[in-house]
Amino acid sequence: MRRPFKWGNEYSVKVDSLDEQHKYFFDLTNQILTLLEHPHNPHLKERLILLIVKLGRYAFFHLDFEEDCMSRYACPGLVAHREIHEAYRNKVINYLRRVREEGADLFKLAEEAAEFSQDWLSGHILSKDREYIDCLEKNDVE
Ligand SMILES: [Fe+2]
Repeated sequence: MRRPFKWGNEYSVKVDSLDEQHKYFFDLTNQILTLLEHPHNPHLKERLILLIVKLGRYAFFHLDFEEDCMSRYACPGLVAHREIHEAYRNKVINYLRRVREEGADLFKLAEEAAEFSQDWLSGHILSKDREYIDCLEKNDVE
């Protein structure tokens, strides 16, 4: 099992609201990984379902919020950025579908959702999200 994701300044997009959302997103993935370290927890199944759904819903909220910010200030690259978000949204839809399947291996699904999301978001922040920093900073977006 991997270690919890640790936030560092290199992940800052210089917009407080977006940094806070990114941190909370990572926090949810860490909560999933922490739960998986205690496989004998009697409420494991319910808690995993809850957290996977929470992560999925938060992902939708956050990606929409970010796109709205970019759109409001007419930041360049929105169409391409949205397409990249869309690919991740499809992953989330897949997790949310699988979580409802009878006999789903929740342990495996939760691990996959948490690890994939950490990798995806950390890589995404360091590459694509970086591209809107100038635009949002110029407009004093907090
Ligand atoms: Fe993004």
